[in-house]
Amino acid sequence: MLLGVNVDHVATVREARKDIEPDPVKAAALAISGGADGITIHLREDRRHIQDRDLKLMRKLVSSVELNLEMAATDEMVSIALKVRPDMVTLVPEKRAELTTEGGLDLKKGGKKIKKAIDAIQKKGIPVSLFINPSSADIEMSKELGAKMVEIHTGLYSNAKGKKQMTELKRVQKAVKSALDVGLLVNAGHGLNYINVKKIAAIKGLRGLYIGHSIIAMSVYTGMEKAVSEMKRLIS
Ligand code: PXP
Repeated sequence: MLLGVNVDHVATVREARKDIEPDPVKAAALAISGGADGITIHLREDRRHIQDRDLKLMRKLVSSVELNLEMAATDEMVSIALKVRPDMVTLVPEKRAELTTEGGLDLKKGGKKIKKAIDAIQKKGIPVSLFINPSSADIEMSKELGAKMVEIHTGLYSNAKGKKQMTELKRVQKAVKSALDVGLLVNAGHGLNYINVKKIAAIKGLRGLYIGHSIIAMSVYTGMEKAVSEMKRLIS
């Protein structure tokens, strides 16, 4: 099971001050030394966190593991992807006002645009993954559109509690199986944390998990004591 670490939140903190720190490129290097099998960044149309400079530097740094560029299926993003050549592209829906990616792609509505992006990117040898809800219709459509991979949205599973969570888990398990049956490579992600990840990681046939928020949150906790004691030492 591969672990792709999403470092967007590091850039969110940096952009809160429009400063040079914390640097998501440095965070990516540390994530790799911690064992990450991949680094994910989402270059948004409004550049609210990851900047073009991050993507360029990240491409230079991330060579031993997989660089996954999350992006909307727009002409601008396709042309950036073809220039920078990440190891894979994940197409996601993008809304300006959202706090994070809110759901899977609407393949019915956006099919034409998505197909155009898939064809252009895969023609250049970069595999494309579609971020989709755990539904058989979306899996069939992903296959028809020609994507090599899908990432099953685990957000509903992650947010649910008790019995409802079991129902959502079953939906994800079924979706993984259906996607494998039609020959897609299958990943999963969104909202996974140190408590809810085990049941998803146990699903057979999953290629990898993409996790951001909970890992960045944990790194704040595990790093705080050292950061404060170093400042205290300097001012004493
Ligand atoms: N996968 C996709 C497609 C995403 O958009 C995100 C959030 O950027 C993630 C995974 C990671 O989600 P989280 O930050 O909740 O772990």
